[in-house]
Amino acid sequence: MKILLTFSIPLLCTSLVWCGYLEYDQDVLISKDWTHVGRADASDELKLTFALKQQNIHLLEERLRLVSDPDSAHYGKYLSLEEVASLVRPSELTQKTVHSWLQHHGISSCHTVHTQDFLQCTMTAEIAEKLLPGSRFHHYVRDGQSIVRSSGPYAVSDNVHQHLDFVGGLHRLPPTKKDGNRKQQKFKGEVHLGVTPAILRERYNLTAADVGSDQDNRQAVAQFLEQYYHPADLAEFMSIFGRTFKHLSEVDQVIGTQGEGKAGIEASLDVEYIMSTGANISTWVFSNSGRHESQEPFLQWILLLSNMSDLPRVHTISYGDDEDSLSTAYMMRINTEFMKAGVRGISLLFASGDNGAGCRHMGKDQNTFRPSFPASSPYVTTVGGTSFKNPFKVSYEVTDYISGGGFSNVFKMPDYQASAVEAYLKTGTSALPPASYFNTSGRAYPDMAALSKNYWVVMDRVPIPWVSGTSASTPVVGGMLSLINGQRFAKGLPALGFLNPLLYKLKGQGLFDVTEGCQQACLDEQVQGKGFCSAPSWDPVTGWGTPNYPALLQALLNERPEL
Ligand SMILES: *[C@@H]1O[C@H](CO)[C@@H](O)[C@H](O)[C@H]1NC(C)=O
Ligand SMILES: *[C@@H]1O[C@H](CO)[C@@H](O)[C@H](O)[C@H]1NC(C)=O
Ligand SMILES: *[C@@H]1O[C@H](CO)[C@@H](O)[C@H](O)[C@H]1NC(C)=O
Ligand SMILES: *[C@@H]1O[C@H](CO)[C@@H](O)[C@H](O)[C@H]1NC(C)=O
Repeated sequence: MKILLTFSIPLLCTSLVWCGYLEYDQDVLISKDWTHVGRADASDELKLTFALKQQNIHLLEERLRLVSDPDSAHYGKYLSLEEVASLVRPSELTQKTVHSWLQHHGISSCHTVHTQDFLQCTMTAEIAEKLLPGSRFHHYVRDGQSIVRSSGPYAVSDNVHQHLDFVGGLHRLPPTKKDGNRKQQKFKGEVHLGVTPAILRERYNLTAADVGSDQDNRQAVAQFLEQYYHPADLAEFMSIFGRTFKHLSEVDQVIGTQGEGKAGIEASLDVEYIMSTGANISTWVFSNSGRHESQEPFLQWILLLSNMSDLPRVHTISYGDDEDSLSTAYMMRINTEFMKAGVRGISLLFASGDNGAGCRHMGKDQNTFRPSFPASSPYVTTVGGTSFKNPFKVSYEVTDYISGGGFSNVFKMPDYQASAVEAYLKTGTSALPPASYFNTSGRAYPDMAALSKNYWVVMDRVPIPWVSGTSASTPVVGGMLSLINGQRFAKGLPALGFLNPLLYKLKGQGLFDVTEGCQQACLDEQVQGKGFCSAPSWDPVTGWGTPNYPALLQALLNERPEL
């Protein structure tokens, strides 16, 4: 039944313009690790999110280009949340139509955000199923976590169809915990150096003086797993590993819910490492395990961005889904949300993923690579992973084979990277995977990289070695960008904001180029487990390379870098 639906809906909707499905290409299958526990009762309460169509998206995009292009007269002239709101706020007609549609169904308990382009409403399952024909809500559980999701795709009535981008809370599942398999590699007796704050600071040339000193500077990590960092673990981590540099040992603010799940490696990792490179900088944790069974944790964070006028300037996020599991409407809209953040001078850093180029089975003996979102968004900075060439020494870095990277099938290649990517594709021809595996017209990622292998983390008060993943590299880069922001503020310069246009103009200045090693990919005859390989200058495995802090600081301190 479910399989039938996923195949028949796209056909129906691409051929009929009036089709009532907003997300006809959204994967609605519930993965097997969730156990079905029964149909939702008519009176069960749901909390759904309505993404209202915005205005002036093209103006927003143009504005973002201007404020983040160092050659523009508008560089660094960021907008306030208020200004963003007046640009994108849905039209009167859109607001009225959606409100009266909801009211008509007896839904009155709704909250909006500052930009008025999202509505979050509480209703019973019975009402939700009437409002959204096709939806059928069920309860599912996994590892003590419980959710409500719809087993079928939803439609909306014709008169609101053009006023909505999507409805959240029906399909997308909370991210899977990865701790068990890949995060914590078994210690097999071989001795490695292990990455600690001191090792990172040595490799990336951070001196004891390179710590934050601007008391208004703030950085954040956002987490969406059912797990939380433990303040005592952070304190213990800093007492063991923080002796050589001035740092903070406490998170300043936790936004959202903390504490329903267990302390987790991923959650500890982010916080411990952003506070080690971005040392002595006030740090916030956005922890939205989703307060409600029908909420999507990542979407909750997206809503918060539009509802808080005063946000940290740098956010690092280790979350991603396969592009092909998400609806285009959803990804396009989330991409607009990234533009809204960028135009405010907020830097969003996403981990590039831990599956290399990924692999998608398209049919018998037919595979392609599998890009991941939001890593593939043109409006975030995506961070890949490396390891030391010599695992016993602070040596130069090579590709970590897990490093996510490749080409989007959804987002077009942005102008800022066109020449860098073209150069890679030209010079790398002999080593490139077969053309049928990837889409060269798409946004290519990552943009830069950092060490991702064998980190020490403290969890449950115990130091644990051998924790790996691009979710380690991302906060490491984030902390350094925060330090650079602090230095810029001291000179009266604006925050770095959306970094990519500037990063690609620097052409690798301030970064260690990573030129050795390939990422993993499909285990088939054609590619035999090998995806893209790193190469001189930009490549789709490690981007432009890893930070050499003093050189990067110097390059990014000039409001208009000498290019
Ligand atoms: C946004 O913030 C306002 C005021 O702080 C609050 O009343 C509202 O509920 C928030 N919206 C959501 C969706 O949480
Ligand atoms: C930074 O580190 C690299 C290698 O670790 C070293 O070669 C270089 O001289 C250091 N200093 C600067 C300012 O780049
Ligand atoms: C740490 O940051 C505070 C401001 O938040 C500043 O006053 C202090 O000087 C900084 N410490 C060092 C060693 O730079
Ligand atoms: C390739 O990417 C473009 C966007 O850059 C997209 O329009 C196109 O559909 C993609 N092709 C495939 C086969 O996915």
